[in-house]
Amino acid sequence: MEPPFPAALLCLLGLLAAASGAAECPSSAWIPFGSSCYIFLQGTLDELDSIDDARKLCKDNASGADIISIKNKEENTFIQETFKNHWQGPDYISLGMFFDTDDNAFKWYDKSEMKFTNWIEEESNEELLNTCASMYTKSGGWKKISCEELHLTGTLCKTAFAYEKKYLPDKTALTTTLVIIFTIVVTVSAALFWFLYKRNISSVSGALCITHHSTAEMPYGDETVLIDEENEYTV
Ligand SMILES: *[C@@H]1O[C@H](CO)[C@@H](O)[C@H](O)[C@H]1NC(C)=O
Repeated sequence: MEPPFPAALLCLLGLLAAASGAAECPSSAWIPFGSSCYIFLQGTLDELDSIDDARKLCKDNASGADIISIKNKEENTFIQETFKNHWQGPDYISLGMFFDTDDNAFKWYDKSEMKFTNWIEEESNEELLNTCASMYTKSGGWKKISCEELHLTGTLCKTAFAYEKKYLPDKTALTTTLVIIFTIVVTVSAALFWFLYKRNISSVSGALCITHHSTAEMPYGDETVLIDEENEYTV
């Protein structure tokens, strides 16, 4: 008998591989990395007069997209390398952050937490009000720049958590499917294991078992009746 276990396991592994794969992107023009997708959109100076225009360009291209935020070193390196290999962008791009004078700190526009920075200049005490940040795409380093001095010819966009949320129902359905398949696999394996275990016990215990069974199956056989009668009379 061919056990169904290996086939089910392969199916499960296939689904898991699909689930842990790259993010689903708005179109093939976007490049997936981790759980987000990225696109560099060219624009004219008229179209991109400010960061707000840059954000709008991103949002208009795909719902849930916003101007770039960078979470960690890996993402920073990915952006730097994709500029070198794929996007024929300018030397400097604007980062999606603003200086929040209330908190005296830079914040990402897409509201993700600023855990990683890659400034290439010394700390300065200059006025940070209306300060923007740009990335030098050749090195991946970040520089502070006056927002008035930003000359945007394009904007780097990223699908943020909002985009993932849109796809959450699909992920929930996939998880449910995986749980159901897992349960079936476990049940079938347990049944199979129990069946093989039982069969093994039967063949190992051999004659003893058969004798026992035949006695049990014929409770009213001559021998049994005889023994019972004997017992009754000796007591
Ligand atoms: C998004 O940008 C890409 C690349 O420029 C373009 O091909 C696509 O049509 C844009 N999509 C929308 C919805 O604007």
